[in-house]
Amino acid sequence: MNEKQLAGKKAASYVQEGMTVGLGTGSTVYWTILEIARMVKEGMKITGVATSNNTEKLAQELGIPLVSLEDVSSIDLTIDGADELTEDLTLIKGGGGALLREKMIAYHSTHMIVVADSSKFVNQLGTFPLPVEITPFGYAKTVNALEKLGCAASLRKENESNFLTDNGNYIVDCSFGEIHYPTTLHDTLNQIPGVVENGLFIGYAAKAIIGQENTITYIEK
Ligand code: A5P
Repeated sequence: MNEKQLAGKKAASYVQEGMTVGLGTGSTVYWTILEIARMVKEGMKITGVATSNNTEKLAQELGIPLVSLEDVSSIDLTIDGADELTEDLTLIKGGGGALLREKMIAYHSTHMIVVADSSKFVNQLGTFPLPVEITPFGYAKTVNALEKLGCAASLRKENESNFLTDNGNYIVDCSFGEIHYPTTLHDTLNQIPGVVENGLFIGYAAKAIIGQENTITYIEK
């Protein structure tokens, strides 16, 4: 098993009968979803809430019952990947462009577990450019406003068009260099009109399961 597979599969063991589970997005939580599907096939009753259209499609194909965020009273546990994480479980997410739904679902969850391979664990956030979701309306002005905060801002492209999120928005990948004050940066970004959400997840995750060669390391808060 590779590191992603190890971490992803392990996280599924925290899913229990009757839970409503936030299903994250990406190539690590993919293994969690596969394992949850196996557990469902064996008779476990759980309900999933998908953080992206891709995850929704995958879960449907695998036979995991889904419910929309509107229709759940609470989410017991969300399991999701990260692009970077630090010892205090501050995360950068959004490499796959799903950060808004991921953050909404994490916010409405009692617990969040992060799954990652060892390359994601860093001393300081910021090597991975911070994804920021912005509205298409006035996007060039919003990109300018982001650049004024001191980052190199790059509008994400896909097949030579602007990348579109599941919410019909754009993503700007912002290279700030080392992020020493994530909370300040988070709040500053979200105060810019046109910014919908940013990929800093602060205070959401209570546990990280990290694949490390052939073994697993845990970080807990
Ligand atoms: C999706 O938008 C992201 O937040 C992913 O959760 C993150 O990019 C981790 O993905 P991988 O597990 O594929 O590295």
